[in-house]
Amino acid sequence: MNSISIKKWMAFAGLTWLTYVIFHALSLLNFHFGKGGFNGFYAEFDQTPIYYLMLAVLAFSFALHVVIAVSRQLKNNAAMGDKYHHTYPKAIPRFVAWGGASTLFGFIVFHFWQMQLLDKTDLYQQMFNIFTQPVMLLIYVFGVITLSAHLHHALTSVLQTLGITSRRYDLLVIILISILMLSFASVPVSVIYA
Ligand code: HEM
Repeated sequence: MNSISIKKWMAFAGLTWLTYVIFHALSLLNFHFGKGGFNGFYAEFDQTPIYYLMLAVLAFSFALHVVIAVSRQLKNNAAMGDKYHHTYPKAIPRFVAWGGASTLFGFIVFHFWQMQLLDKTDLYQQMFNIFTQPVMLLIYVFGVITLSAHLHHALTSVLQTLGITSRRYDLLVIILISILMLSFASVPVSVIYA
């Protein structure tokens, strides 16, 4: 497979996750309709065949995205030799880009297992149990910030690959990311101010 089609698979896997992240952020808004709305939504969705299918698709896309990203980087390093220390898109140092991606990776793995291990009989109350712990707040703040930086970098790169460089699309990317971040942040913020 040539490097363009490999890049397309990576973008496809990333866009699968973006679709899920939009769905996840918007479904978390049920939190603001109280215990009944939030618990009711997840009770209907959890452990259904669609839920397991979604998890399988997410796990596959996650693995595909990470494996392609790491192997492309290793190939680039080998090809570049001495130029290895050059900066990476738009003057973001390579270690910052990879540090951010690794933090996001760690956050997703941590968050997924934390959610799987919860007692789901009252998920609404569990959000209070989690977000009243300062360390958890810190982990989630880092997770959501690294997600927004990663999405910004990924979406602007995809647009650039498609030859779309207009400022209007940059603005659309920023608006989309802001809506996602505000939706995610709305859960811990309303726990803190409850
Ligand atoms: C403050 C932010 C967030 C909150 C309050 C939150 C809350 C939740 C809740 C309540 C569940 C359990 C749903 C269930 O029982 O099925 C869940 C699952 C999950 N979350 Fe999050 N989440 C947040 C951020 C994120 C982010 C940023 C990502 C990924 C980039 C993410 C990825 C996942 C995944 C993969 C699952 C397992 C699949 C699922 O149940 O939907 N979450 N999250």
